Amino acid sequence: MIFVSGANGQFAHAVIESLLTQVPAASLVVGTRNTGSAYARQLTGRGVQVRESDFMRPASLREALQGVRKALFIPTYDTNDVRLHQNLNAIEAAREVGVEHVVYASFLRAELPTVEHSRLVHLPTEQAIRVSGLGFTILRHALYADILVGDLAQTLATGVLRRPSGTARSAYIARTDLGVSAARILMRNEPSGRTYTETMEQTWSGEEVAALMSEVFAKPVRFEAVPAAQWPAYMTDNWGVPPELAVSTIGTMQTVEAGHFDVVTGDYARITGNAPLDMRQFLQSLRT
Ligand SMILES: NC(=O)c1ccc[n+]([C@@H]2O[C@H](COP(=O)([O-])OP(=O)(O)OC[C@H]3O[C@@H](n4cnc5c(N)ncnc54)[C@H](OP(=O)(O)O)[C@@H]3O)[C@@H](O)[C@H]2O)c1
Repeated sequence: MIFVSGANGQFAHAVIESLLTQVPAASLVVGTRNTGSAYARQLTGRGVQVRESDFMRPASLREALQGVRKALFIPTYDTNDVRLHQNLNAIEAAREVGVEHVVYASFLRAELPTVEHSRLVHLPTEQAIRVSGLGFTILRHALYADILVGDLAQTLATGVLRRPSGTARSAYIARTDLGVSAARILMRNEPSGRTYTETMEQTWSGEEVAALMSEVFAKPVRFEAVPAAQWPAYMTDNWGVPPELAVSTIGTMQTVEAGHFDVVTGDYARITGNAPLDMRQFLQSLRT
């Protein structure tokens, strides 16, 4: 059986829906803290086993992983120390109940120490998986393209896309594509020990994205760079991101500004056999 953690999350949703187009619902187990949510109940109705599971409660993880052969662990949005603790709980539970292969959703260039969540969560989690004795696949995700359009209505209404970086290019990829590729890894007989870095086939600067938005949505959009150091306050004031989480993204944004995420790989196509959505297709998919 295949297990996906955190069923109510957006990335989990993309993985689960992709899996359900290709495997019988009965072969899928999903974990969630909220088995009563609308989506959890819908999945139960479709024949998926929905099990209560919380990274903070190892006993719930051991229960939820019973009979599971391959498990995808998706990190949470908690603070970095908590997230690492959660991931280590998940790895230990997988080991204890005999899961054969774990898949971990990591982050682009997780080795870069300037990115706080990579240094404190993703890299130590990857290392713990490597020495766990479990079969494994690491999926290093580029920045979600979705984070460029989280406030699309406001961007189009004001004609201004505000983000850090500016001229530096960064790798992005659509979260739905990442769901397709993760599902593919979970379904197939994947050899252990591979790390994939998933990106679109081209990198993008904020200015280039704004120009493309103007074209795709037929509305003028200009780019306005927010300095990395001011980005946390912007996220908190405009989007309500908790300050402790927002402040931990400064290093990530400085890393973007320094051009360290200007990376293109063919790994997505290597996994799925198809090209990922490019930025134009991604934006076009949002047109109403
Ligand atoms: N590459 C990127 O640019 C990028 C961008 C944003 C985020 N991320 C990472 O990708 C992850 C998924 O993103 P998303 O957009 O799908 O986030 P999301 O929609 O906010 O989902 C967060 C998930 O965390 C789960 N969760 C929270 N606390 C948990 C706990 N104690 N135990 C088990 N699960 C718990 C929730 O599941 P239930 O409610 O069902 O329990 C939910 O699935 C994020 O958490 C973050 O680590 C990457």
